[in-house]
Amino acid sequence: MELKEQILKEFNSRFNEKPSVYASAGRINLIGEHTDYNGGFVFPGAIDKVIMAAIAPNGTDKVRVFSIDIDEYAEFGLEESDAPSQSWARYIFGVCREIIKRGGTVKGFDAVFAGNVPLGAGLSSSAALESCFAFALNDLFNGNSIEKFELARIGQSTEHNYCGVNCGIMDQFASVMGKEGKLMRLDCRSMEYEYYPFAPEDYELVLVDSRVKHELADSPYNKRRESCERVAKRLGIETLRDATQAMLDGIRDEISAEDYSRAKFVIEEKDRVLAVSDALNAGDYETVGRKMYETHEGLSKDYEVSCEELDYLNEIAKECGVTGSRIMGGGFGGCTINLVRKDLVADFVETAKKRFKEKYGHEPKVYEVVISDGARKVE
Ligand code: GLA
Repeated sequence: MELKEQILKEFNSRFNEKPSVYASAGRINLIGEHTDYNGGFVFPGAIDKVIMAAIAPNGTDKVRVFSIDIDEYAEFGLEESDAPSQSWARYIFGVCREIIKRGGTVKGFDAVFAGNVPLGAGLSSSAALESCFAFALNDLFNGNSIEKFELARIGQSTEHNYCGVNCGIMDQFASVMGKEGKLMRLDCRSMEYEYYPFAPEDYELVLVDSRVKHELADSPYNKRRESCERVAKRLGIETLRDATQAMLDGIRDEISAEDYSRAKFVIEEKDRVLAVSDALNAGDYETVGRKMYETHEGLSKDYEVSCEELDYLNEIAKECGVTGSRIMGGGFGGCTINLVRKDLVADFVETAKKRFKEKYGHEPKVYEVVISDGARKVE
């Protein structure tokens, strides 16, 4: 059964209203990792995997919501003290609270949701969930008066204030603002962004999911951010966006070796995103690919957010002649993103599956990337 039919069927079996249906997307990121909370650049796009929700106001001051995938029901009020205990429901509660805190309106509603964004794969299923509800509640209760970019910030604040992840803006931005066939380069300092058509004739983007799960809230993600903030403070600048390698070398003796490596990666990654923008404009995918490999190296050795399985997938990609390959997203598991010449895709996918299984006992999952629209009303 299609996602929409499944959700509507479940909604009708539980509630009486006629719901509207909304969706928001997971995301990929071509390059620019761990740069968003450092005021740098990112290069994401929304994908054709979504969280979808059927939602209707219920005339009460209570939210009643069922998650098909988790097979759990939650009910909560809209005051700060009403936070639900289930972690998945806190994403929705957080979105409601962040809208209310900004002076917006949220009243009681009934909802059923489900999705096909793989969980823990680094494709931002949580941002898709937040963006789906932020978009829906803006439409249902606020006459769409909240600007789209602000919906992304609402999702980000939800992560900070209700889910314990001090994330940047990239995932929610991509989930809300994504457009079919377009990647977006976002400057996370000025928040200016540009759409880049992405449909190379001879290449495909392929995700290889190690199926090693990460949990950002419990992971060292927040620690990485703290390292960057410590170095920026020591340099007397707001974010590492304004740092250069020379500035960093100037304080090398005053900071820990670990903080030095983290900041070095961020400084290099900022330049890589700019190089990739130029290369894309010139149709130079070999350079794009080379930069992706450099990012992987930095994320693995300096930022230390890779893991054995992802390093292995990166090795296999190299051996198969894949143009570019790197770990994608926050790290500690999930996917590699691979820029692959079309004539090599079949061989790469088969080799990656076979060799990964021989070593780790299970096949990785492979997803072809289709760059798609972000948050929207489906019906
Ligand atoms: C996670 C965060 C993003 C970003 C990436 C790393 O996905 O949610 O804000 O920091 O990690 O680039």
